[in-house]
Amino acid sequence: MRLIIASNNAHKVTEIKAILAPYFNSIQSLKDAGIDIDVVEDGKTFAENALKKAREVLAVSDADAALSDDSGLEVDALCGAPGVYSARYAGEGHDDAANNEKLLAEMKDVPVDKRTCRFVSAVSLVRRNCEPITVIGTVEGKLLFSPRGTGGFGYDPLFLYEPSGKSFAELSAQEKNEISHRARALAALREAMERERE
Ligand code: IMP
Repeated sequence: MRLIIASNNAHKVTEIKAILAPYFNSIQSLKDAGIDIDVVEDGKTFAENALKKAREVLAVSDADAALSDDSGLEVDALCGAPGVYSARYAGEGHDDAANNEKLLAEMKDVPVDKRTCRFVSAVSLVRRNCEPITVIGTVEGKLLFSPRGTGGFGYDPLFLYEPSGKSFAELSAQEKNEISHRARALAALREAMERERE
């Protein structure tokens, strides 16, 4: 089965390829497949956006399936923000550094015990002539007061994963892929695909 990953985020594509490689004959990013598409992410939930992205990409490709991840960070003290706006929290066209700066400013007076947050990933797999599968993965953490580490992307330097005492940006790629929200969503996807075969 030929799969296209409906994302232009090179970090996400690398993480997804590493986890799903054993399950597909070929996995291509949008760039590998020569597809230039900008899906408007106007859903109210991660799941709505993930399904929309995968459907629109499959419609313009000749692959057998399209997989998308819509993800972000939910901070309890901010009532779940940045949530589905994670990528553009500091405004359209701003980068990860600007998003992180804005988040730290919003959270500057929030004490450590109130800094609970979680990464959420909704993954959708859309195939031709099959029901789509959408699954969710989450990982709980605490928002740090300043960035730590140089790995990963996005909010990783601000996300403390308490069981290891490290930020996501201080974990190796392999360590992150074992416990991340995306890894958990992809594990749920694999289980759902295996259940279909029973
Ligand atoms: P999306 O591409 O619309 O799903 O936006 C995802 C945004 O959420 C990214 O730009 C990051 O800001 C954030 N995000 C999602 N997953 C991660 C992660 O694994 N680490 C850090 N930030 C993430």
